[in-house]
Amino acid sequence: MTEDTKAVAAAFDGLSHGYAASFIDNELAADARRRAHMVYARSFHAPALIADVGCGPGQDSVWLARHGFQVLAVDCSPSMIAMARQAVDQAGVGSAVITWQGDGFAPGRLPEIAGQLLDGVLLGFGPLNFVSDLEQALRNIRAAMRPGGVAVVSALSSRCAWDLMWHLATGRGIAPRWHRSPQTVRISDVDCPISYWSARQLIHAANRFFHLLNVTAVGSIAPPPYADPLMDRLPTARRTLCRWDERLQQTRLAAAIADMLWLELRAR
Ligand SMILES: C[S@@+](CC[C@H](N)C(=O)[O-])C[C@H]1O[C@@H](n2cnc3c(N)ncnc32)[C@H](O)[C@@H]1O
Repeated sequence: MTEDTKAVAAAFDGLSHGYAASFIDNELAADARRRAHMVYARSFHAPALIADVGCGPGQDSVWLARHGFQVLAVDCSPSMIAMARQAVDQAGVGSAVITWQGDGFAPGRLPEIAGQLLDGVLLGFGPLNFVSDLEQALRNIRAAMRPGGVAVVSALSSRCAWDLMWHLATGRGIAPRWHRSPQTVRISDVDCPISYWSARQLIHAANRFFHLLNVTAVGSIAPPPYADPLMDRLPTARRTLCRWDERLQQTRLAAAIADMLWLELRAR
């Protein structure tokens, strides 16, 4: 593992239980995950073999296995991969899932562990924010896949309008995301490299190795999940914002200002 990936692993080791807990009772996060699952349902076709790279505590690995997929769940954090193993076993789908702790972007490793080229790859909820060379990461992901396979990749955007307004409104100045990447973020006492990507950067980097099928923007009209405690006081407004967010999710404007971007890509 590179030094950067070791730092990410240490950071997420410290965060693992807090990360899983942050989704409990968070309606904005739940809505984002429900919509991510709609993207997976449209892009992947069971019984394909899908690598869930940066699987975290394993929510999406469980979803994939429950929907008939074979899953290679990968995370660089030992604590996250232990939680993912526990989650798939507890859900009764452990036999459909191989778990592997390592660098999901390391060249050649995913097909070696899986014993074959992958039918699909999921980079769900932002593992791409922890790579500094976006093009190289996508090249390695493409090389792990069979031609015609589908990758669903997501990243926190560098141009989230809500994030900018939130930081300005709370007197914290320009949101770090709007500064030039890569940056350093402190996660559970570890300085961790992080890069935010615009829709244009993601599409440009992906274009060399994949055909772009779809872009879905989440969090252009509805605020990011960290605003959920505030929105608890305004449940009707939250529902309305989420509804409009979903209606506009495939427009260029939404992609330009969203919190998170999802690209569906077919391997060239
Ligand atoms: C924001 S979390 C997303 C977790 C999960 N996909 C989800 O849906 O909640 C990012 C995860 O990616 C993992 N990660 C980051 N870089 C990685 C790498 N190079 N190889 C494997 N996992 C990585 C982190 O350890 C962390 O668990």
